[in-house]
Amino acid sequence: MIEGYNYPVPVLDANTVDFTSSSPEQTQRMGARLGELLRPGDLICLHGDLGAGKTTLVQGMARGWGSARAARSPTFVLVHEYKRADGKVLYHLDAFRLKPGEGPGLEIDSALDHGAMVVEWPERVGEMLERDRVQVEMRWIDDTRRNLRLEGKGARPEEILRDFRKLAFGN
Ligand SMILES: Nc1ncnc2c1ncn2[C@@H]1O[C@H](COP(=O)(O)OP(=O)(O)O)[C@@H](O)[C@H]1O
Ligand SMILES: [Mg+2]
Repeated sequence: MIEGYNYPVPVLDANTVDFTSSSPEQTQRMGARLGELLRPGDLICLHGDLGAGKTTLVQGMARGWGSARAARSPTFVLVHEYKRADGKVLYHLDAFRLKPGEGPGLEIDSALDHGAMVVEWPERVGEMLERDRVQVEMRWIDDTRRNLRLEGKGARPEEILRDFRKLAFGN
């Protein structure tokens, strides 16, 4: 047992959810619960080192959103699109390989008009961290465990977080 990670501690305050995932599958399940709450216009920013589990979380989010099948963006290699039956898209941008000064390759405002967006390495896309967003910080604990901390930045993200807490932890 690692000090501080013995118990799930889902509620720190009304606007923060903090818990430990014990497996990739659990991370995906949590992602699915988050994904099913998303609507066009919603932005999720994923922070954490390589191997923290960001892409694993995105796989679950896509399932919850309603389309687990990724298509490469026709215009930009760092973007994958999960398009569900009603035509709405979850955009997944992995900005890890973005070069300084290089744009994300998609017009973020127009993408958010008809889709939701999840971003890995959002700190590499200048304006991303000025937007209303659900901020997720993922940390490696050991081979199978990851700490996830979700925070709502803005009114709509706070609402997402409240609903996520209810859905995932029942409180
Ligand atoms: N609890 C966990 N949650 C997420 N990934 C986990 C967990 N335990 C082990 N892993 C493994 O860690 C790796 C995470 O990789 P990935 O999701 O690509 O991370 P990132 O996108 O942050 O670089 C995967 O190989 C996954 O199977
Ligand atoms: Mg990744």
